[in-house]
Amino acid sequence: MSTTTTLPGGMDPLDHLTTDTPARIAAAATVAELDAIESEVLGKSSPIANARRALGSIEDPQERAARGQAINGVATELRSAIEERRGLLEAAELEAQLRADSVDVTLPGRRPMRGTHHLIQQTMDEIVDIFVGLGYTVATGPEAETDFYTFTALNIPEAHPSRLETDTLYLDYGDAEDEILLRTHTSPMQARYMEDHAPPVYVVVPGKVFRAETVDATHAPVFHQVEGLAVDHDITFGDLKGTLAEFARRFFGADTEVKFIPHYFPFTEPSAEMHAFTHGRWMELLGCGVVNPAVFEHVGYDPDEVTGFAFGMGVERMAMVRHGIRDLRSLIDPDVRVLEQYR
Ligand code: PHE
Repeated sequence: MSTTTTLPGGMDPLDHLTTDTPARIAAAATVAELDAIESEVLGKSSPIANARRALGSIEDPQERAARGQAINGVATELRSAIEERRGLLEAAELEAQLRADSVDVTLPGRRPMRGTHHLIQQTMDEIVDIFVGLGYTVATGPEAETDFYTFTALNIPEAHPSRLETDTLYLDYGDAEDEILLRTHTSPMQARYMEDHAPPVYVVVPGKVFRAETVDATHAPVFHQVEGLAVDHDITFGDLKGTLAEFARRFFGADTEVKFIPHYFPFTEPSAEMHAFTHGRWMELLGCGVVNPAVFEHVGYDPDEVTGFAFGMGVERMAMVRHGIRDLRSLIDPDVRVLEQYR
């Protein structure tokens, strides 16, 4: 800048702008600092603005024009230096921001705690899956049942001890067979399912059952069963044995041995308990048998046309036998340290 006209009586304040200011602009470290310099040197009360206001008092038109040009020259030079610097600072600030915001993909992820099903649910699902794999369908039924489906339809006599309040939890004492109770086994679904479906039937029924029990190492008032029912032409006790032995092999391992011990259930004849050899000893697993023709008669099936077998197993018992769990209460108490072992 060499065209600055010096005002009479001293130093031109614009000289100061052309000597110091470009260095200050170049040294501004942030956009905010640059904004402050800009308003100081080009703003309303800057030396530039003051010099423009003073133009009116210059009487000689030529001198006034020259002075105006000089002021504009300084202003333009400063403004372009500021804009150039602003461009650099903004780019640097953007880059710093992006770097700060960026995700480090090499850091290990933070995993949320993942829940699992309770061992009882896992076991019930697995039992059902095995039978689905053998061609069975799945059905569920009401937990609050009538006396009729729980006992009468299953050939359980009027005076049978399981009907007593010491075993069964009653919800509503109606007339005889209309009494409502909490089902003591999943077997009521045998009759319900056969009433709604013509043979052949291959069905499993998982669900909760209830008995008037005091909690101890092997008893609880609420537990789970999986019921099974197969009805078709020419089904024999051999089919029952083959099916349940295959189930035991899939559930406990390929070389699992089973044996059938005679037992009594009113709704099957003959009846048996299946035991399996696991953990070095024989364990009772479930009740089963050939469907009693009396049950078919209750649901309108012709016992001369079809035969079948049924079984019912306790889910908690299956889990305990498989995992060597001694006390049922460790499955019921909500202690995650125990349950976490069976994820
Ligand atoms: N319902 C019987 C029980 O709860 C088990 C069972 C089911 C037995 C089906 C034979 C046939 O003990």
